[in-house]
Amino acid sequence: MARALLRSGLVSETPRVDEERLFSQLMELAEVREPEQPGWTRRTFSEPYRRSRQLVRELMEEAGLGVQVDVAGNLLGRLPGAQAGLPQIAIGSHTDTVAGGGRFDGMAGVLGAIELVRVLRAAGQGLRHPLLVVDFLGEEPNRFGLSCLGSRAVSGALEPHLGLRDGAGETLGEALSAFGARPRELGSALWEPDRLLGYLELHIEQGRRLEEAGVPLGVVTAICGVERAEVRLTGRADHAGTTPMGRRRDALAGAAELVLGLERLAAEAPGGVPGVGTVGRLEVLPGASNVVPGWSRLWAELRSPEPSWLERAAAGLEAEARRVGAERELEVELEWISREAPVRCHEGLRRLLRDAISELGQSQLELESWAGHDAALVARLCPAAMLFVPSRGGRSHCPEEWTEPAQVALGVEALLAAVLALDRAGEV
Ligand code: GLV
Ligand code: MN
Ligand code: MN
Repeated sequence: MARALLRSGLVSETPRVDEERLFSQLMELAEVREPEQPGWTRRTFSEPYRRSRQLVRELMEEAGLGVQVDVAGNLLGRLPGAQAGLPQIAIGSHTDTVAGGGRFDGMAGVLGAIELVRVLRAAGQGLRHPLLVVDFLGEEPNRFGLSCLGSRAVSGALEPHLGLRDGAGETLGEALSAFGARPRELGSALWEPDRLLGYLELHIEQGRRLEEAGVPLGVVTAICGVERAEVRLTGRADHAGTTPMGRRRDALAGAAELVLGLERLAAEAPGGVPGVGTVGRLEVLPGASNVVPGWSRLWAELRSPEPSWLERAAAGLEAEARRVGAERELEVELEWISREAPVRCHEGLRRLLRDAISELGQSQLELESWAGHDAALVARLCPAAMLFVPSRGGRSHCPEEWTEPAQVALGVEALLAAVLALDRAGEV
């Protein structure tokens, strides 16, 4: 493995991406999880997440990285460059999971980046540029409904969200402080664009296109836009036996209508432009079988690589919420928690990835990402691109999520080839 290092002329022997070592570390990290949750759950702010980051920190240190945690709670491992004054090359991903999640989404990119450093060091060869390995804090939506906390912070976009509250009334800012971050210092971008040459993220595809095409590596063309809204419906709690059907203000029946309305409007693809819409979380109060629900709240999200689709669907959701409220005498409040536009991956970095894969003699596919990623936020600061490895059966955000050890290792090798090419080029 690591043929790219050999070809670069930096080494005379071939250092290997150690497939077994990397895979056993992925499995070890997966075991640090919330025992009462299904699958491999390690949600942001949970105690297992805190513990797991100590493990990641140790792996970074063992690999020879100088480790720091920034004010947003991002775990950063630095490898100095041989030439003074050059901007950094950043690589990484995240290590939190969704509830009932898998062992690869995010973790493959972080542990893969650490493996890359081990291979570089085994070759006795540093880069000209400093290398930054990042484990971004909290990429998945958390109990505040917000995703990509750490990558939002590095690009200066987290501060406006610090007042978001969870169901118990705690703010995101308070949760960050309790986790050891310093939210008061998040007023501006933590990373300086001038100090960054580019960001590359290795990730599992989370869909089935690579597997169906029988192709081991994917270069991401664009990351879909993701818009998330919290909708609260207030009706009136009443006796479930004595309140006639025509006299109810049922906040759950209203939410159900909105869920189906969103499903209908997301299925429309005007002019062939596709998108998806989901309600993945719903709360109901008072939550008793013999009480007409007086209050509900749901979290809706919309995704598409096309801004026009998102605009139409967002307006459609708002209209549907107004209609349901008026027809059912419910007070409806709709609040957009985040509205991320689609992001195109950097053309120069994409070319570099394509060439790196060709250099390895592997086939490749260019594809859009319908999953959200930290790379979309980092792209606000500097050139950013992504490399995908296949997901078995296209499954992700579930315990069955799986990528073969050799497939993850090949992803690391392609990432290494791209990092070496970027280091040589010094520009994109
Ligand atoms: C992250 O995995 C997302 O796409 O929500
Ligand atoms: Mn995910
Ligand atoms: Mn992810």
